[in-house]
This record gives sequence, C-alpha cells and structure tokens, in this order.
Amino acid sequence: MKERIFMCSPEFYGVEYEINPWMKVGTETSENKSVTNWNKLKELITRLGAEVLTMEPVKGLPDIVFTANAALMYKNIALISRFRYKERQPEEKYYAQWFKGQGYQVEYLPENMSFEGAGDALFSGEVLYSGYIPRSDIEAHFFISKLFDIKVLSLELVDQRFYHLDTCFCPLKDGYLLYYPAAFDEYANKVIEENFSEEKRIVAQEEEAVKFCCNAVNIGNSIIMNHTTDRLKQVLKEKGFDTYEIDFSEYLKAGGSAKCLTLKI
Ligand code: ARG
Repeated sequence: MKERIFMCSPEFYGVEYEINPWMKVGTETSENKSVTNWNKLKELITRLGAEVLTMEPVKGLPDIVFTANAALMYKNIALISRFRYKERQPEEKYYAQWFKGQGYQVEYLPENMSFEGAGDALFSGEVLYSGYIPRSDIEAHFFISKLFDIKVLSLELVDQRFYHLDTCFCPLKDGYLLYYPAAFDEYANKVIEENFSEEKRIVAQEEEAVKFCCNAVNIGNSIIMNHTTDRLKQVLKEKGFDTYEIDFSEYLKAGGSAKCLTLKI
C-alpha cells in the first residue's frame, strides 16, 4: 500500500509569537516563498510514490502547518497532541476533527500531560523513541507505552535549539539513524548507541544540524531536507540514500523544516 502523508497548507503561516529560540516576533515571512516551497515538498513526496492528504488551514493559527505535531499515529489510532504552550493548543481540536473525518480512531492523553505527537515520538522498527522536557512530559511516554503496549525509550533533549525530537533525531529506512548527538544528554546518547550500531548511526555536524538536516522526510531510499552540505549528502549516498534539497528557510524562522510539515498516517 502507498505510504500516506498528512500536510496542511501554509496560507496563514507566519511568526506571531515566540515559543522556541528560532522564533522572533517581527520576523517577516514571505507567503510566496512559503507556499512555493511547501508545494515543492508536496509534489516531491507524491513523485516519490507517497500519497499526500491535506487539511484546510485555520486563520490565526500560524503553526498549524506543522502537522508532525498533530498526533502520534499507531495502527488506526491518532493520539492527539496536548501542546505545551497555549498558542498552539487551539490546533488540537482541528486536528482531531480531521482524523475523525478520515475514519481514524481518535485518542487523548490525560489533561495534565504535555505531548507533541510525532514531533517528539518516532518509531525505528518496533521501538518508539520519545523526546522530553522542552515540549513533552516523560509521564506521557509511560502512558503511551501502556496504551499501545509498545516499548518506549525516553531521550532527554538538552539544547533549546532542538526542542522537538524530530529536530535532531531522524530514523531512516533499514534501521539507520541520522542524528545530532550534542542535542541529547549523556544517558540518551548511551541509549542511542546501545540501540543503533555504529554502522547505522549517521552523525550530523553542528552546521548541518542548525540547518535542520535531521528534520528530514524519508521515503524509500530518498531523503528530503533543507539545503545541506556536500559532506552529509556524500555520507548518506554511501549508505544508499539520495538526498533531495528544498529551500525551507521560511520555515526555519519558526523552528521547522521538511519533517515538521508532514505526518505519516
Ligand atoms: N513554531 C512551531 C513550534 O514551536 C514549530 C514546530 C515544528 N515542528 C516540529 N515537529 N519540530 O511549535
């Protein structure tokens, strides 16, 4: 079956508040450029063989374009996010409505737990890796592990620039992992090293990580990311991956890039 990817068009995207270090109120975003590059992403995903499903954006919710944060998907279930910051909390009901409309079973976390969906929780094989502190609470990981009866490994994020797991950790096909070690505490690094062999670990350098190279979309042997270095493209090539670059600089202004704009459903 075709892979399905959920996206939301950037008509009302912009930087209107500050909830991560990349966001600075007063930063202008170009609608033309955001729309063009979002469309390029959508077209490329389709060309690579996946199906893109979209939701109507909502005026006044500039970050709703980052659908990675809509939910954590497991089988036919969408576990809807509970956003840490009030600025994004109104998005929750629009995402829930959309999933219901698509026939998914919608589940919720207890009210006192923050958890930001696939922005902070990514599968590699059967194991769910989940980031915590900036946006998601570790209690949510225990809840998810019980709800889905799966193994969850919690990874502490220690660099504010990499406030969501998917900004610094990208599981790839065949058990590979592209990641930025300095975004994690020592214990998380140990967990990563114990679960991914050296051959499978692809380490991003700081200059690549700050351009959100780990916020990449992997479809088959193809990887879509913001413009990156020849070094990283070469390393990925040696592991059997082709890199496709799109200019996501408009989205970096809000702390997002390719992967944040998508959700595998
Ligand atoms: N401005 C958004 C926020 O701070 C960006 C979200 C990026 N999404 C992601 N999955 N990393 O919440």
